[in-house]
Amino acid sequence: EKGGFDSFMLKEIAEQPQAVADTLRGRVGENGEIVLDEVRMSDQDFRDIDKVFIVACGTSYHAGLVTKYAIEHWTRIPCEVELASEFRYRDPVLDRSTMVIAISQSGETMDTLMALRHAKDQKARVLSISNTVGSTIPRESHAVLYTRAGLEVAVASTKAFLTQLAACYLVGLHLAQVRGIKYADEVASVLRELVATPEKIDSLLEKMEEVRDLARQFSACQRVLFIGRHVGYPVALEGALKLKELAYMHAEGFAAGELKHGPISLIDDGTPVVAIVPSPRGRSLLHDKIVSNIQEVKARGATVIAICEEGDHIAATHADHVIFTPQSPTLLAPLLTAVPMQVFACELASALGHDIDQPRNLAKSVTVE
Ligand code: M6R
Repeated sequence: EKGGFDSFMLKEIAEQPQAVADTLRGRVGENGEIVLDEVRMSDQDFRDIDKVFIVACGTSYHAGLVTKYAIEHWTRIPCEVELASEFRYRDPVLDRSTMVIAISQSGETMDTLMALRHAKDQKARVLSISNTVGSTIPRESHAVLYTRAGLEVAVASTKAFLTQLAACYLVGLHLAQVRGIKYADEVASVLRELVATPEKIDSLLEKMEEVRDLARQFSACQRVLFIGRHVGYPVALEGALKLKELAYMHAEGFAAGELKHGPISLIDDGTPVVAIVPSPRGRSLLHDKIVSNIQEVKARGATVIAICEEGDHIAATHADHVIFTPQSPTLLAPLLTAVPMQVFACELASALGHDIDQPRNLAKSVTVE
């Protein structure tokens, strides 16, 4: 059933263009309007919201972090993201006009379920994003938007993550549309780009042999650090989580600007640093900043692998290794930049002889708190 792949994880990585396309299908109308009728929330319900909280764990939490940047930028509604396991213990401020988005592939994660129940007790409106029809989290939510990744067998989440991003972008764009915001033109163009993303993921996957070759060169390393800014920061966290989970290697993701506040001490000769570089088009300030972060770590001996957009020769010249991803609007870039992170971790763990689909100490669905 692995369809000729060495592991379910590799198969699921390859299924991502289809999974994202399936998740978008039927939800974008002919005139560019987002159709989320199945969510059972009226436009007025969406207009009444004045604050969004996202609760989730692990990879789903990283999807939530990306969503915060998108929702706040497109809608100007304040959005916080919280690890589900922390949420209810700190007495968060919630009321009827708060929307809580619970993201869970399995729909059974106990930490997320308990956060959801707390939110309902406080009268918040709960929308869940889940890959499992009829699971507990969607059943207990006021509304649900299903991702259509299909069954994900490997413990390490890949296609579910990308479909969570796609579903979250739809929610953010829908919120922006029904509330009529000043970025209307941008929202329309982002939506067109979102629909075009599965093809870009497909073309990116064709180049993954390069990433596999690269990953094998780092299998003897003690640690790998990941840095990013803006939505590249959650992708850095996700890259590090994948490596910990699969290769049992010390890996950490940092907001690149934080390096100088401590973590840069970790870097010595040959320390691999994966830098998620934002597009040089548009938000060029962010791009300049990460190029200087690359120079900083290089000066301390790091070996830099840059994940950058096709045509970004500036970042490429400063890095030791470069992986190019197709051009995309900054906010949507995680749908692309996350893919080499998955392949990198998977291949590095294979080189170490680990069980890719069933890493030690982990379960696919975590049903205890
Ligand atoms: O089913 P969920 O999305 O609620 O699961 C949350 C995490 O347990 C999950 O994403 C975990 O971090 C993955 N194994 C990461 O690859």
